[in-house]
Amino acid sequence: MQKKSWNNNLKQANKAKNDEFYTQLSDIEKELGHYNEHFKGKVVFCNCDDPEESNFWNYFALNFEHLWIKKLVSTHYETEKPSYKLEIVLDINKDWKINKLDTIKTPLKQNWDFRSPECIEILKESDIVVTNPPFSLFREYVAQLFEYDKKFIIVWNQNAITYKEIFKLIKENKIWLGYGFTGGAAHFINKHYEDYATAWNHKEWMIRVSGVTWFTNIEIKKRHEDLILYKTYNEIEYQKYDNYNAINVDKTKDIPMDYKWEIGVPITFLDKYNPEQFDLVKFRKGNDEKDLVINWKCPYFRIIIKNKKL
Ligand SMILES: C[S@@+](CC[C@H](N)C(=O)[O-])C[C@H]1O[C@@H](n2cnc3c(N)ncnc32)[C@H](O)[C@@H]1O
Repeated sequence: MQKKSWNNNLKQANKAKNDEFYTQLSDIEKELGHYNEHFKGKVVFCNCDDPEESNFWNYFALNFEHLWIKKLVSTHYETEKPSYKLEIVLDINKDWKINKLDTIKTPLKQNWDFRSPECIEILKESDIVVTNPPFSLFREYVAQLFEYDKKFIIVWNQNAITYKEIFKLIKENKIWLGYGFTGGAAHFINKHYEDYATAWNHKEWMIRVSGVTWFTNIEIKKRHEDLILYKTYNEIEYQKYDNYNAINVDKTKDIPMDYKWEIGVPITFLDKYNPEQFDLVKFRKGNDEKDLVINWKCPYFRIIIKNKKL
């Protein structure tokens, strides 16, 4: 089994431009099970999903009737040649079930880059986009979803929170974290693992990635649950930043319940973030627009929050 940090894996993926880590069905089931009612009567589009490889396609094809989906579309991306799309809409084979056996395959003129005009036409007709987009194109991918005002559930890495454009969307409550294994690890199927066909068992071509996070703009219950706080403020434990008037907290669970001014918390706080309980004030920088400093050290990315209920 390959064990490397996300950053190394990400660098590798970007460098090789392979973007070919495939999500396991079990991880998809764990997350998407929380959104069942949102798929009813909807056109679901998996726009970075080779239907022969993607478990997103498998998940929706298997659960098409159970979720009352209106239409499922998935696309096969080719780097340099025309591609095809697969759709499930009706009981084509008249066996009284709608599933993979009712798949319609249509050739396309373009290569099915998610930014291609053909792909954008389908995007416009879709209600919800669900996928694990290419590692190297995340910002562009998210920008396009907002440009066309789409609902989405996508999996990526918690590092995305630290991107200026993504944090802005989180702060404006336009995107939030799903249930997922935020800050945790997941295994992806690495299609470009050298010689994986001869690997001695399947684990050799699974790759471990830490900080895997689901991002969505679909309303979920979790986002409205208060974080239970139990600690109280004291000056010794909760020190202020040298360049910003806020106290530093290293673990989300240690946020003092009685502190009504600004508090710096780690990015994993977003996993527990309820916009009715806290405001997100700013990200990472002090008054001098330099990274937050405490006792001459910069703690790893901090988000400044404020308790709205005090
Ligand atoms: C990280 S993989 C994930 C695959 C699949 N969504 C899954 O989770 O199993 C990203 C996929 O996006 C495809 N891809 C890369 N660049 C793309 C682009 N510009 N447009 C559409 N798909 C692209 C890759 O071929 C790859 O299949």
